[in-house]
Order: sequence, then C-alpha cells, then structure tokens
Amino acid sequence: MLNIVILAAGQGKRMRSDLPKVLHPVAGKPMLAHVLDSARELAPTKVCVVYGHGGERVRTALDSTDLTWALQEPQLGTGHAVLQAMPEFAAVPPAPTLVLYGDVPLIRAATLRRLIEAAGADKLALLTAHLDNPHGYGRIVRIDGKVTRIVEEKDADDAERAIREVNTGILVAPGAALVSWLPQLGSANAQGEYYLTDIVALAVAEGMDVVTAHPDANWETEGVNSKAQLATLERIYQRNVAEALMEQGVTLADPARIDVRGQLICGRDVSIDVNCVFEGSVVLGDGVRIGPNCVLQDATVGPGSVIGPFARLRPGTVLAEDVHIGNFVEVKNSSIAAHSKANHLAYIGDATVGSRVNVGAGTITCNYDGANKYRTVIEDDVFIGSDTQLVAPVTIGRGATLGAGTTLTKDAPPDALTVSRPKQITITGWKRPVKQKKP
Ligand code: UD1
Ligand code: CA
Repeated sequence: MLNIVILAAGQGKRMRSDLPKVLHPVAGKPMLAHVLDSARELAPTKVCVVYGHGGERVRTALDSTDLTWALQEPQLGTGHAVLQAMPEFAAVPPAPTLVLYGDVPLIRAATLRRLIEAAGADKLALLTAHLDNPHGYGRIVRIDGKVTRIVEEKDADDAERAIREVNTGILVAPGAALVSWLPQLGSANAQGEYYLTDIVALAVAEGMDVVTAHPDANWETEGVNSKAQLATLERIYQRNVAEALMEQGVTLADPARIDVRGQLICGRDVSIDVNCVFEGSVVLGDGVRIGPNCVLQDATVGPGSVIGPFARLRPGTVLAEDVHIGNFVEVKNSSIAAHSKANHLAYIGDATVGSRVNVGAGTITCNYDGANKYRTVIEDDVFIGSDTQLVAPVTIGRGATLGAGTTLTKDAPPDALTVSRPKQITITGWKRPVKQKKP
C-alpha cells in the first residue's frame, strides 16, 4: 500500500516562460511526466498531483485515469501543498505516503524503493544527501546521530548552515500521522510559509522514529528552477542514456554528442556518429551504421543499413536489411525493402519501395496535392534517374527505369524505360547576345 503526492504548484518564475515549469521537457518529455513514470513503477494505490499556477495546462497535458488532481491556490508552502491533497486520500485506507516534486525529474524508482523500505508502516523516512555545497537546502539536524528536525537555510543559524546533510524534499510519512500533522503546521518562519519539513519535529515529539535513505546519485534529487538547471539535468540524462547504450555494446563516436528523446533500441554492433537525435521509438537492427548529423523519429532501421550523414527519418519509416539512406534524404511514412538505396538529396514520403531499388539524386515523391496525400509504389529492381518527380498516386512497375528529369504522372510499366522530357535539340550557328554599346 502506497499513496503518492506530487508537488507541482510552484510558479517557476525563474524559468521566465509562459509554459508551466513542470511541463518543460527533459529528453523531449515534460519533467512531471518523468516523475509520473517513476511513481508508476512503484505500483501506488493512489497518486495525487498538486497543481497551481497554469495548472489547467498541466492537467490537460498529463491527465490520466490513474491520477487525481488537487488545486493549491494560493501557494502557501510545501506543507500547505500536501494538505491540499489529503481529501483525495480520504476514501482509501491510510497508507505510507510518498511526497515527490514535479520539478525533480530524474528521481529513480530504485532510490524511492529504498526510502519506502526504510519507512515501513510506521516511520517517517527522509531522502537526504550529503553535499559539498548545501546552500539553499533545508539542513538535517541530528542529535547523537538521530534526526531531530529540519531547518531551512533562511531560518538556520551559522552552526546549522554548516551542516552538509540536506533535505532533498522527498519523504515517506505514515498516512494517518500525516493527516494529523499537516493542520498543526504554522507559518511563523523566515518565509511565512507552511513548511512540510516541520513534520519532522512533530514526529520526533510523538516519539516516532525518523530514518533516512540516500539517492544512488545526487543528480537524482536535483530540482529545476532555471533554464540553466534544466540544461544541466538534460545533459545528465543524456549522459546516462549514452552510458547505457555503450554498456549494451553500441559504439558512440562521442557519448556527449547524442540525444535520445524517447526510446532507442539497438541490435549488436550498431555504431552512431556524432550529433544524432533520436525521437520517439527508434529501432536499429544489427550492424546499423548512423553517420553524423542524422535525425530519426519513430523509425525502424533493418540490419546492416547505413544512414546519413545528414539524413532524416520521420515517423512511419520502416527500412529492411541493407538499405542505404544518404545525405539530405528525408523519408516519411514509407517502407523500403532490402538492398535499396537513396543516397543523395531525395524526399520519399508515403511510399512503398521494393527491393534493390535505386533512387537517384533529386528524386521527389509528390505525395501531397495541397489537400490530400497519396501513395507512391515503387516495385522491386526499379531504377529511378536523377531529378525525377513522382506525382502520386503512381506505381512504377518491377524492373522499370525512369529517365533523369522525368515528371511521372501516370504509372510506369515494368521492365521498360519511361521518360518524360522534351527531346534535346541543338541549334547550330546560334550566337550569344552581345552587350549593346551606349550611344
Ligand atoms: C524545499 C524544502 C527544503 C529542501 C528543498 C529541496 C520545505 C519547507 N523546504 O525547499 O528543505 O531542501 O525543498 O529542493 O519544504 N511547491 C508547491 N506549493 C507550494 C510551495 C512549493 O507545490 O506552496 C512545490 C514546488 O513547485 C516544488 C516543491 O514544492 O516542486 C519545492 O518547493 P520549493 O519552493 O522549491 O522549496 P524550497 O524552498 O526549495
Ligand atoms: Ca527548490
């Protein structure tokens, strides 16, 4: 049994943005969605998100049947925020309640499990960290090793400010105790806020054990208050992804120059050159090589295929074995069968391409007439000359050849040369114009 409260009401003024803070993306996904992912891994009974500023947008963006929402307006502090969620749990049996922050996106379920374990059914468990620079954080005050209270930076004296064990803000409290403590909180402190952290002293006064657990890495508990912090966490996230890929055997030319915004699944002996961006769900088969500066989104690349440099695979791209997609080639919503190549300057959209097809430089599927989209079918063993336009819907029969410069508006029959091009003429004796002399 576990209940979860996620605090997401803070304004995030320092982001200087119209977008609510918790919707700012890390790896292409709102920060709050990352927190929800970790929360869901814990299989909670109930999850309540406390929202405030810009809240309707947050709710619209991330609403789901397994969530409840509590409005906090105005925002009077973290204790006041958790209090707003309590009615949502009134109907479920009291259970340990985990408090998470919507702007702490990299928290991992494994760390939270340890915290929950430490809390058991009847203890207050705090996730704390030891920092070289604890500035700004609430400090964990201990007497004889036992936690007695948390003091906020702004309320701390010099001795307390020297404490380097800090409150990450994440905690687990027994549900019934939390319900009794929250209304007791006062706001007689330096910030005039209802501090959630004051429940620690209340627990100690009742004789309840206060225990601590620690994150595997301190970045797990870092929050985002500015664009600079957002970028810092983005880099940490991407470094973790790069390390995981290398751990699986993927060769990365530079682990600092890959961005995965979604899920990237790689086979054996995949190599990825610098500055590639992977979005949505991308699958790379065994032996795939991705050249520098490619963007792949929701695409499947078959084994042995070679992509890039400077290629773009858009959603719905499915490439079979040994397909070559070269520089400045864009593929969208198309399947390309084995051993086919589009090596230079092409747009392949809404197409079904067979095997051993050669798509010449400058080939464009004209898939859109301004209102509707149509498919292009290119059968096996077709050779498409350079600079051709395939005006869909159109089919190029098996083994057909299209002459360079063809604008194909009707189906091309199999095994024949089709060319639409004015016949080449030469005018002999023609003279270039010459500049007239000014009078
Ligand atoms: C809080 C802790 C501090 C801890 C620090 C870790 C308190 C009193 N202090 O301080 O001990 O070291 O986090 O970052 O809890 N929020 C609301 N409603 C509010 C106020 C805050 O939803 O009325 C949310 C914020 O959006 C944020 C989180 O709670 O996600 C923490 O709020 P913040 O103002 O950043 O807390 P700190 O003062 O940093
Ligand atoms: Ca904070």
